[in-house]
Amino acid sequence: MKHLPLNNKLFIENRKRFAKEMKSNSIAVFNSNDEVITNGDALYKFVQNSNLYWLTGIDQEDTMLILFPDNIDKKYREVLVLVRPNTLKEKWDGHRLRIDEAQKISGIETIVWLDSLDALLQSWIHNADNIYLDTDENDRKPFHYETREYKYIRQMKKRYPLHKYYRAAKIAKELRAVKSPYEIEVMQQAVDITEKAFRRVMQFVKPGVYEYEIEAEIIHEFLRNRASGEGYGTIIASGDRARTLHYVYNNEECKDGELILMDFGARYGGYNADLTRTIPVNGKFTKRQKEIYNACLHLHHYAASILKPGISVNVYHEKIGDEATKIFNKIGLLSASEIKNEDKENRAYRKYLYHGVSHHLGIDVHDYGTRTEPLKEGMLLTIEPGIYIEEEHIGIRIENNYWLTKNGNKDLMKNFPITAEEIEAAMKK
Ligand code: GLY
Ligand code: MN
Ligand code: MN
Repeated sequence: MKHLPLNNKLFIENRKRFAKEMKSNSIAVFNSNDEVITNGDALYKFVQNSNLYWLTGIDQEDTMLILFPDNIDKKYREVLVLVRPNTLKEKWDGHRLRIDEAQKISGIETIVWLDSLDALLQSWIHNADNIYLDTDENDRKPFHYETREYKYIRQMKKRYPLHKYYRAAKIAKELRAVKSPYEIEVMQQAVDITEKAFRRVMQFVKPGVYEYEIEAEIIHEFLRNRASGEGYGTIIASGDRARTLHYVYNNEECKDGELILMDFGARYGGYNADLTRTIPVNGKFTKRQKEIYNACLHLHHYAASILKPGISVNVYHEKIGDEATKIFNKIGLLSASEIKNEDKENRAYRKYLYHGVSHHLGIDVHDYGTRTEPLKEGMLLTIEPGIYIEEEHIGIRIENNYWLTKNGNKDLMKNFPITAEEIEAAMKK
């Protein structure tokens, strides 16, 4: 990892919170992600399993974590399992963690090499009544192939058929949704790096520039500030392409008179920022562009005024739908009769705003978190309304990241230019 060392109390606290939710005399086992082949002998860049990272801070393949809070042998209540360093392999692939290094990162005292785990684990399992195993419980998870966790579950159930099995993800998803102040400190660093990149591109953009040149500026700024890279595929979409929500080709010219929608965020210390700004290629909004921009900004501010503990994501979206309906009428997108006759299951405003306005954010860009339960203090969400008008070949989205406080929220991106005037001024400098 390129980032500076994190305070390991983050991971120590997370393990404590997790262990507190386990049934008595239970063991929990977490696995790292697979190393995945692209073609031949080449691998995708390794990305750690999010729950394992959240519990340990270890970003290395073939890692496991075992939590057995009631283990009679105190030494083995928390065990970090690592691949044994192999000096020949290290000549090719580089350094692997030593015991003291892994202890420092994770705050776990007991480190066991993967090749000597089996016998130890067997006796712990025989002393436990319940086994917690992990799966990915993101509602939109694709299921193309069986990951290591799912294979592991099959093996364990075959080997230990009479234990009771429980879902580690059920606990992790509740806990991960609420961010500690220290997690927010790390998040803020991802946000601050993202701000530098945004300010850089506001100086860089001019008519004739290509989308990929802007993307390159952003990634340059990320890496020189110790981000591990982009949190997700950077979207640089000028003109009509801004209506494509996950546009990642970034290969066209940005023309005079167009707006560019830029959705990007740095990943730092395992946490992601998620920003969207829409700026004029030539540094100045036209009257109509500004009108639509201000409507989108109004929706953003409205959302920020109601995003607080107690509201559920579903109710929040209904209210934003009501506000979007009003404002879309005001800027000439929806007529009174279209509104009156709308299908309640597919409301009229959705023609111009066809995605959700908020998602939880953290180690995953679309992080674990509830849609139906009331939101809680400590949750971190984006606010990202958009207005996409096919007839006018325009797409605008404005996205910031908000941490829920006791009675409201705190905007982690409050220093970023956001009004049309602030953006014009920043581009002029
Ligand atoms: N760029 C992904 C999102 O904003 O949700
Ligand atoms: Mn985004
Ligand atoms: Mn987002």
